[in-house]
Amino acid sequence: MTGATGGLGSELALSIAGQGYSIFFTWNASPQKAEETLERIQRVSPASEMIRCDMAKPKEIQHAFAVFGEKFGRLDLLLASASNFYRTTLPDVSEADWDNLVDTNLKGTFFTMQEAVKIMRRQSFLSRIIAMTDVSADLVWKSFAPYTVSKAGIQHLIKIFAREFAPQVLVNGIAPGTITRHADWRHDEQTFEEQDLIAKIPLHRLGSPLDISRAVHFLLESDYITGQIISIDGGRVLG
Ligand SMILES: NC(=O)c1ccc[n+]([C@@H]2O[C@H](COP(=O)([O-])OP(=O)(O)OC[C@H]3O[C@@H](n4cnc5c(N)ncnc54)[C@H](OP(=O)(O)O)[C@@H]3O)[C@@H](O)[C@H]2O)c1
Repeated sequence: MTGATGGLGSELALSIAGQGYSIFFTWNASPQKAEETLERIQRVSPASEMIRCDMAKPKEIQHAFAVFGEKFGRLDLLLASASNFYRTTLPDVSEADWDNLVDTNLKGTFFTMQEAVKIMRRQSFLSRIIAMTDVSADLVWKSFAPYTVSKAGIQHLIKIFAREFAPQVLVNGIAPGTITRHADWRHDEQTFEEQDLIAKIPLHRLGSPLDISRAVHFLLESDYITGQIISIDGGRVLG
């Protein structure tokens, strides 16, 4: 799994570990969060390990997979969750912004999926890729163009990989809306920004990591779904 130090990513890693999987995950700039995440995961899945890997650098991705190959016998699931996200007003987008966002999110996801299918195609059992995209890939967010373009690109990659690597590999995506990380979050503690967001969500609440992990488990149990993006956004994409 990539990006397991993230607010949502760490919860997904933990929830998959709870299903009996060993987790091999990447982190990049957050060593402390990585240690904490590994400790939490190893409590339920002691064989789990991690490696530092900058997703914008294909050589580092290849190295991470080489280490994975030495340590683990099989690859059941790639959960591609690593992502860079920040606001970029359209007239001010710099080349560095474009590279930071598009290289990490789109190029990184492409080369991670490419390495994963090299292993998966050699296996005699069905394996799965789930890539995290974003509801914004189907909306027009003018102040996040490199990010939303990177996520729209991932959605297209999902379809190409699903078509190319069927039937051995099922490739799907999850497009979350805004996910709150605080389990004890209460409606009476909403910030103005949250109130504004919630007003745009037909189901009148932010999402939770549990909403997303349920979809991951559903895809892990399904064997007749490929090339699909599941939006988990409380209806946000309906406009
Ligand atoms: N949370 C939400 O509300 C939400 C909404 C829509 C979509 N999503 C998607 O869901 C996924 C998980 O979200 P999240 O909340 O966990 O994100 P997050 O908290 O922003 O975490 C981002 C993760 O990506 C890693 N990362 C960033 N740049 C990297 C790089 N250059 N190389 C390698 N790893 C890098 C980070 O690792 P380090 O910290 O170690 O650098 C971290 O693990 C993402 O794909 C995100 O786009 C989330």
